[in-house]
Amino acid sequence: MVRLLINVDHVATLRQQRDTFYPDPVVAAGICELAGADGITIHLREDRRHAQERDVRILRQTVRGSLNLEMAVVPSIIDIACDVKPDMCTLVPEKRAERTTEGGLDVRGRAAEIGKAVRRLRDAGIEVSLFVDPEEKSARACAELGAVQAELHTGDYCHTRLGSVAAGRELARLEKAGRIVVDSGLRLAAGHGLDYINVGPVAALAGVEEMSIGHAIVARAVMVGIERAVRDMREAIDRGVRGAHRE
Ligand code: PXP
Repeated sequence: MVRLLINVDHVATLRQQRDTFYPDPVVAAGICELAGADGITIHLREDRRHAQERDVRILRQTVRGSLNLEMAVVPSIIDIACDVKPDMCTLVPEKRAERTTEGGLDVRGRAAEIGKAVRRLRDAGIEVSLFVDPEEKSARACAELGAVQAELHTGDYCHTRLGSVAAGRELARLEKAGRIVVDSGLRLAAGHGLDYINVGPVAALAGVEEMSIGHAIVARAVMVGIERAVRDMREAIDRGVRGAHRE
């Protein structure tokens, strides 16, 4: 079964919009887990535009499954991670002007800096995942940097139309990079931009063990409630794994 981690950043986005105490991503995370999520992902950005340090600290106490902290490779956030000790840290690039994480980490250009961050986190007992573009060289570099997992950026695939030639091309890129990740002994994850329609073919890719999905689930939750939004995504992933998305 492909594990589903739910990214609750967008619950925090709604809260920060008005500087209120609600909706609380911690409460949302609890409901997500009750509805079948295998864990929770939260991105503590340097600019604190959505998740706050308080969220991460409380989630560490309340999440029963896996807690995955997404973060930039910056000392102040690494300090917080080493103190809070999530189950996993996913290192991502971060730009102030972006609306969401736009691309994968430059694992080759920033190898020394990333390697140092991975060592610090591992020494604190935290597993590390690297968020990379589905490219051969990036996929290969993840093992060399000491990560236990690579998460492939599915953003380019998600910008294509399902069933189109471009979608096929992007899936082939994901498949090729995924094979390199698995062959180098790392766990394979995928995420970014996945929704109820496009998730199936990615779930069906060989070796995919985990997905972090946020925006589509929180958006559907506004319409039908979180519980149902999580269950629908669980079903969409399972249909994909069975190959039923092709029917
Ligand atoms: N994985 C990573 C590394 C991300 O940065 C994000 C966005 O925060 C996600 C997954 C989830 O993306 P989305 O909200 O588009 O599902």
